[in-house]
Amino acid sequence: MCGIVGYTGDKECADILVNGLRKLEYRGYDSAGIALFEGDRIRTVKAKGKINEGLAPRLAQQPHFSASAGIGHTRWATHGEPSDINSHPIGNGRVSIVHNGIIENYRKIKEFLTEHGYGFESETDTEAVAKLLDYNYNGDPLDAIIKTVADLEGAYALGIIFREHKNMIYAVRKESPLIVGQGDGEMFIGSDVTAIIEHTDKYYLMEPGEIAEISKDGATFYDIHRNIIEKELQTADWDVSAAEKGGFAHFMLKEIHEQPDALKKTIHPRIKDGMPDFSECGLTDEKLNGYRHIYIIGCGSAMHAGIVGKYIIESLARTPVIVDMASEFRYRNPLLSKDDLVVVISQSGETADTLEALKLSNKIGADTLAIVNVVGSSIAREAKMVMYTLAGPEISVCSTKAYMVQTAFMYLLAFRVAYARGEISEQETKQLIAELNEIPDKVQKCIDSQEQYQKVAARLMSADSLLYIGRGLDYALSMEGSLKLKEISYIHSESYAAGELKHGTISLIEEGMPVIAVATQHDLYKKTVSNVKEVKSRGAMVVFICGEDMEPAENDIDCPVYLPSARDMLMPLVAVVPLQLIAYYTAVLKNCDVDHPRNLAKSVTVE
Ligand code: AGP
Ligand code: GLU
Repeated sequence: MCGIVGYTGDKECADILVNGLRKLEYRGYDSAGIALFEGDRIRTVKAKGKINEGLAPRLAQQPHFSASAGIGHTRWATHGEPSDINSHPIGNGRVSIVHNGIIENYRKIKEFLTEHGYGFESETDTEAVAKLLDYNYNGDPLDAIIKTVADLEGAYALGIIFREHKNMIYAVRKESPLIVGQGDGEMFIGSDVTAIIEHTDKYYLMEPGEIAEISKDGATFYDIHRNIIEKELQTADWDVSAAEKGGFAHFMLKEIHEQPDALKKTIHPRIKDGMPDFSECGLTDEKLNGYRHIYIIGCGSAMHAGIVGKYIIESLARTPVIVDMASEFRYRNPLLSKDDLVVVISQSGETADTLEALKLSNKIGADTLAIVNVVGSSIAREAKMVMYTLAGPEISVCSTKAYMVQTAFMYLLAFRVAYARGEISEQETKQLIAELNEIPDKVQKCIDSQEQYQKVAARLMSADSLLYIGRGLDYALSMEGSLKLKEISYIHSESYAAGELKHGTISLIEEGMPVIAVATQHDLYKKTVSNVKEVKSRGAMVVFICGEDMEPAENDIDCPVYLPSARDMLMPLVAVVPLQLIAYYTAVLKNCDVDHPRNLAKSVTVE
């Protein structure tokens, strides 16, 4: 999703803005630009493409100019193709804005403004906002902003500057995330803390409906009635190194290596006297005992964590679990009631589909628990209960450590629900927790044996398409493996229930087609081996991922991958690592942009 930055202070700000945008590149974008106060005018420099391809060289061609305040933007196009003219900042010389989100009634606004003599150069919805601000501006920026936002429908975060108010920055938030950074004699705006952390760890989290008036000396916050709002200054709980690669080739590889630590940081604070503990969010055993169904809602990898959760909660707690992708859930008139628990999972806490599914759940009256990684995010604030996955910032678009800790949370929840419902004893619960605590070391062992994944990657890199197959939890996990490969190596793949292959999809198998079989579940192992024989006999190139204690049918396997063993139920937390690293090394061999895959954004804050 796009990125917004802003600066006002005593330093030259062009580089500060561009570096801030670079820190937000992980969010995904297709063009970038900045607008600065230069003398008594606003200078705008913007370009299609990545910063190094467009904005940076274009800035270098500019005659030197000095500016100590301005705004910047990385755009993820929703209205109008990626182009110079559709890039942000957008304005008319009197006012310039950057925008994250979608203005749903922009056509009506453009028609109104056209009738009042305005013209439009871009195809964007954003330009309607810029020109409406100009139309409403009579010398008082706050007045113009309040009048303008009253007419806007949709989701947006805005950074705004007015030529006649030199070095002042205005910020407006409705849904899309926006923070105001507090420095020493300097102030910032950003889409998230990553953009400002090298300058300050102090920031204000803007709430929907708030307007900020920012000078280098500080910020004043208003509601839409121009009442001043007192806000609490937050302190980021991580430092700038967390937003750097730390010597790794890519953020994705760094974050894969961070998984053992992320697991410990997420699990350990939620264990009290050897038992899973949800008291921090108020999810009591009485509540867990009373829910009719548990819904688990998310998108992409977050949803995949929920699918693993479904298998283990239903298996252990005998409670019906419905997992759904948020974009479907919210439009299928779900059979949700106030007697149900809805667990929404999200790394960013800003995914529009997940946020809207959460709002629908709250509206119906269900209890809602958010499992999110970004503190204070929209989903965290919207849910009735929230628990944070303490994985630290996940910069790579491709989710790895976030998926890992989200899935770990599913185990904690499954154990507690099963115990609360009397399906497992305290002793059994403590045993499960003890084994869960051993998983980080097993994950580390998987990370350490990277050579075997590099060999597999060499066999996959030229494939056009491949299948991931498994049964039960292995099938649930194969969905995540398939997504990893697709999103960073651009090789088509599909996860398929191994037992279902013979009902049609096996017709896809041809000589040399890779099939990655995940077989960690002892009770299903022989069945999966049979399915492997079926595809092998039809020419497949088989990668077989199983526990080190299992006896694979060697002559049916081209690439065995052995895992440290753990209880079958816990194996998804171990087996996901080879799937992540196979995808990673395949993408590297294909010279793909691992951390910024084409077309993708880290947080999809639009529908
Ligand atoms: C996974 O690698 C992708 N980045 C994507 O599927 C992601 O999991 C999904 O967009 C949900 O994002 P969220 O966890 O921030 O809500
Ligand atoms: N809707 C705006 C546009 O298409 C902003 C998109 C974004 O969030 O980057 O320019």
